[in-house]
Amino acid sequence: MSHVIALAGKGGTGKTTVATLLVRLFKEIKKGSILAVDADPNSNLPEALGLKIKETMGQILDDIAASLDKIPAGMPKERFIEYRIQTAIAEGDGFDLLVMGRPEGPGCYCYVNNVLRNIMAKLIKDYDYVIIDNEAGLEHLSRRTTRHADTLLIVSDATIPGLRAAGRIHDLARTLDIKIGKELLLVNSSDKDIEPQKLEWPGLEYLGRLPYDRQIEKISLAGGALLELEESAASISALRKLFDKI
Ligand SMILES: Nc1ncnc2c1ncn2[C@@H]1O[C@H](COP(=O)(O)OP(=O)(O)O)[C@@H](O)[C@H]1O
Ligand SMILES: [Mg+2]
Repeated sequence: MSHVIALAGKGGTGKTTVATLLVRLFKEIKKGSILAVDADPNSNLPEALGLKIKETMGQILDDIAASLDKIPAGMPKERFIEYRIQTAIAEGDGFDLLVMGRPEGPGCYCYVNNVLRNIMAKLIKDYDYVIIDNEAGLEHLSRRTTRHADTLLIVSDATIPGLRAAGRIHDLARTLDIKIGKELLLVNSSDKDIEPQKLEWPGLEYLGRLPYDRQIEKISLAGGALLELEESAASISALRKLFDKI
């Protein structure tokens, strides 16, 4: 059974950073296969993971939607779409990556979206750990990629407006038709813990905090791959301590 960890949070809170650190920690424990999914249309997980991707799922869906009638004769449509998705998976060192992107063409996506969901469900089952970097609106969780997450990890800064935004994402997750195992709040880039009693959202558990990390800043300024962060980085040791709970 795969374990799905979905990251959520408003822009700039550190979802991609945390997703990348999680890939690294899952690689480290060597307990199974890892799929990273970039489900934020404002995609930058490939760069963080140091991978180049050939095509996003959105581009593939565009192609398919525009040429449903041109699928090779004798091949069931679903098989064909499945095959195309397989070609979109980039292989990293110890993990795979799929970038969702966003379909942009004028074609009809109802059919392809439905098929996509079935295929994604099958694909996810093939991996032991699936880490999904989402956008704040949780679009992919509600409509496209998967409707289930064992862990929803909401990333926030430590400010009250930031925490309220995290609370709204938690509320949103409850209104969507998605099955969530547990919901955890991770405060990122903060040198102070928050008081968990300030969290007014039942069901949202405070996981802990990652400090502001100068080594992340250094890599980010240089445009390097965050996956290559030095072992001594403060964020890695902080996340390692919280890892079991995730
Ligand atoms: N713990 C941290 N310490 C220092 N910089 C961080 C930390 N977490 C994130 N950042 C920086 O903050 C910016 C936004 O992070 P990112 O992960 O891209 O956010 P999101 O994916 O939520 O939009 C990036 O430049 C990233 O390098
Ligand atoms: Mg991001």
